[in-house]
Amino acid sequence: MTDSQLKNLLRDMSLQEKIEQLVQLHGGFFGDVGMITGPAAEFKMSPNQPYRTGSLLGETGASHLKELQDRIVASQPHKIPAIFMADVIHGYKTAFPVPVAIGSGFDPELAEEIASAAAEECAAAGVHATFSPMVDVSKDCRWGRCMESPGEDPYLNSVMAAAQVRGFQGDDISKKGKVAACVKHFAGYGAPVAGRDYNVTEISEHTFFEEYLKPYEAAVNAGVKLVMTAFNTVDRKPCTTNKRLLRDILRDKMGFDGVVISDYNAIGETVNHGSSADSREAAKKALIAGCDIDMMSDCYIGNLKSLAESGELDEGLIDEAVYRVLKLKNELGLFENPYKDGSEEAEREIVFSKKHRELSRRAAAETAVLLKNNGVLPLDEKKKITVVGALADDRAIIGSWAIFADDSKTLTLKDALEKEYPGADISFFADDNASDEILEKVKNSDAVIICLGENQDRTGESMSVADISLPKSQLSLFSAVKSVNKNIISLIFGGRPLAIPEVANDSAAVLEVWLPGTLGTLGISDILFGKVNPSGRLSMSIPYCSGQLPISYIQFNTGRPKPETDCFIRYVSNYMDVPNRPLYSFGQGLGYSEIGYSPVRLSSEILTPGEKITASVDIENKGKMSAKETVQMYIRDVKGSVVRPLRELKGFRKVPIEPGEKKTVSFEIDCDMLRFYDADMNFTVEPGDFTVYVGKDSLTENGAGFRILEN
Ligand code: BGC
Repeated sequence: MTDSQLKNLLRDMSLQEKIEQLVQLHGGFFGDVGMITGPAAEFKMSPNQPYRTGSLLGETGASHLKELQDRIVASQPHKIPAIFMADVIHGYKTAFPVPVAIGSGFDPELAEEIASAAAEECAAAGVHATFSPMVDVSKDCRWGRCMESPGEDPYLNSVMAAAQVRGFQGDDISKKGKVAACVKHFAGYGAPVAGRDYNVTEISEHTFFEEYLKPYEAAVNAGVKLVMTAFNTVDRKPCTTNKRLLRDILRDKMGFDGVVISDYNAIGETVNHGSSADSREAAKKALIAGCDIDMMSDCYIGNLKSLAESGELDEGLIDEAVYRVLKLKNELGLFENPYKDGSEEAEREIVFSKKHRELSRRAAAETAVLLKNNGVLPLDEKKKITVVGALADDRAIIGSWAIFADDSKTLTLKDALEKEYPGADISFFADDNASDEILEKVKNSDAVIICLGENQDRTGESMSVADISLPKSQLSLFSAVKSVNKNIISLIFGGRPLAIPEVANDSAAVLEVWLPGTLGTLGISDILFGKVNPSGRLSMSIPYCSGQLPISYIQFNTGRPKPETDCFIRYVSNYMDVPNRPLYSFGQGLGYSEIGYSPVRLSSEILTPGEKITASVDIENKGKMSAKETVQMYIRDVKGSVVRPLRELKGFRKVPIEPGEKKTVSFEIDCDMLRFYDADMNFTVEPGDFTVYVGKDSLTENGAGFRILEN
C-alpha cells in the first residue's frame, strides 16, 4: 500500500474500529466463539469482538495463525490483518543461550546470527514481531530478569542491541525470515530498587541518560520497529504514562517513529502505582504520553471512545497511534500477505534445522566463561571422570523465556557427554546429596565435574532473590567432594551471576555455563575436552555476596578512594568484610592459550576535536591452541565538571589468533565517543586529560594518556 492509501484507509475507519487497532490481546481470547471466560469476561467483550483487535500476543504455529488471521480479517470492516507478536527472546523452538550469555560472547556477529535464526524459525511459524531485544542495563543480579539482558554495560548492551535488531529485522521486515523487533523495557527496568522485580527505580538524571538510555537509543538508531514501555517508575512516574520519556526523549530526542506498546497490563497498573485514579484516567494519560498499543489491559478498549467523544481527548492522538500501527502492518507486507512467512512446509524445513542445531552448540561454546583453570582443563578422554550434581541431568537449562522451545530436544550434560564420548570412563551421579557410593567414586577419579547453580525455574520474570548464594545442599555437596578429591571442575549454571567465593577458591577450574540452550551442553563438552578454546568474557560482574549489589565495573573514586590493597582501611570507602571489587569483574575470562599484550601505543598524545587518534596493542598467542582473544578498550576522563567514572568500555574486538601468531589490534578514538552529560546536562566533551586502557578485561592497567587541549 502507498502511504496515501494508508491514510485514506485511516480516514475511512470509524472511531471504534480505530481504537480496536490499539488493543492487543493474548490467545486466551480466541477460544471457541461464545466460550470466552476469564480475562475476556473482565474485558467485557462480546464474543466476536476480540477478532477485531489489532494485534495478538503469544500465539504461534503456521496453521493455527492462518486460521486465526482468516477469522480476524473476516471480522474487520476494512479487512485489516492482525500482527502476531510473541516473546521469541533467545530462540523459538531451538533455544540458544540466554541473553546474558550472548552478551558474554562479546561477539555482535554471533548475536546477530542467533537473532536471525530465531526470526527465521518464528516467522515460519506465522509470527510477525518479537518482543526482543531486551537491553535493560542490569547491575543487580538479585533481579531474575538480568538473564534477559546482554549485561551490565551500556556500551556492550548497545552493540548487542543493534546486532539483534539487524538479526531480527534485516534491511526489510517484509522479507522472508524477518520479523519486526521490539526493544524493551523502556526505560530503566534493569534498576529496580533492591533487585525486586517491578519495583520503583531511583536513578540519577546523569546515570539515566549516560547509562540506562544508551542501549535503547542504539536499537532506535538500528531501526527497531517497536519499543515496549517498562513496568517501573522513573522519577516517580510510571514509564507507560510518562510523556517526557515517550514523547520528549524517545520520539523527539532519539527520533523514534515506530510503534510504542505497553508492557503486559502496564497501563492498567498505573492505577496500582497510585498515579491514575482509574482505567479511564490511565488510558487518557497513556495515549497522551505516546503509548500506541495497550497490551492486555482494558483501558483503551473501555475508555478511549468516550474520552474522544466527550472531547476530553483529542481524536487526532488516536489517529496518530493508529497510523503507526497500520504503517507497521504495511511494512510487514501484511495487507498483501496476512500470513507473511507462516506455512507448515516452511516450519518443517526451518524449525530445528541442522544449521540452527549447530548454532545452538556453537553459541554455548562461544559464550561460556572460563573463570579459573589451574591446568585441569581441557580434560583428557582417557582419564577417569565423575560428574556430580542434580543439574548434570536437568533439562530445565534452556532459560525461562524459551517458552516455545521443544523441551524433548534438550540435551542435558549427561546426554551430551554420553553422546560425544561413548567410550570414555565417565560416571554420573545427578544428585545433590553426597552418598558414600558417590564419594567413593569421586575419590577414585582423576577429575570430578560438579554442576552447581540454578536451573531455569529459578530465574527470569518475578524470580528475584535477596540472597545470591548457592543453595546449602550444593555447598554441602561441594565440601564433601572437596574432602576426597581436589581436581574439581565447577560448572556454574544460571541466568544470573551467583556468589561462589568458596567454590572459586577451592576448585581447580570454574566454568560459567549460564543456561546454554537446547544443544548447549554439546558446546560445553567441546570446551571441557578441548575441542573449543573458551573465549567468553563476563557481561556481568560476579560479586562476592549479595551485599555488594548493585555492582558494576563502572565506579567512581569518591572523596576517599581506597588505595591498592584488599585490607580494610578505616575512613576510606571500603567494606570491612569483603573487597570493593567483585570476585570476577566485567570482561574477565580465560582461554586455554596464554595471550601476551604489548604496552598501549597512541598515534598522538593530543586529540583535536574533529580528528581521531589510534590506540594499538600487539597481542601474541603464546599457547598451543587457536584462540579468540577479546581485546577491550576502556577510557577514563580524569577530571570533569561532574565526577567521571574510573573507566568506561569504549570498544572491543574478538580476534581469532593462531598459536605463535602476533596481531596488532587498533581502536580509533574521537571526541564524539568521549561525550557525556556535563554539570548543565549538555552532552559534550570537556578538554583535559584522559587515560586509555587496552587489555584483557576491565581490570587491565595497560594504559596510556592523551589530552584534549583548551581552545
Ligand atoms: C514481560 C515482557 C513480555 C510481555 C509479553 C511481560 O510480563 O515483562 O517482557 O514481552 O510480558 O509476554
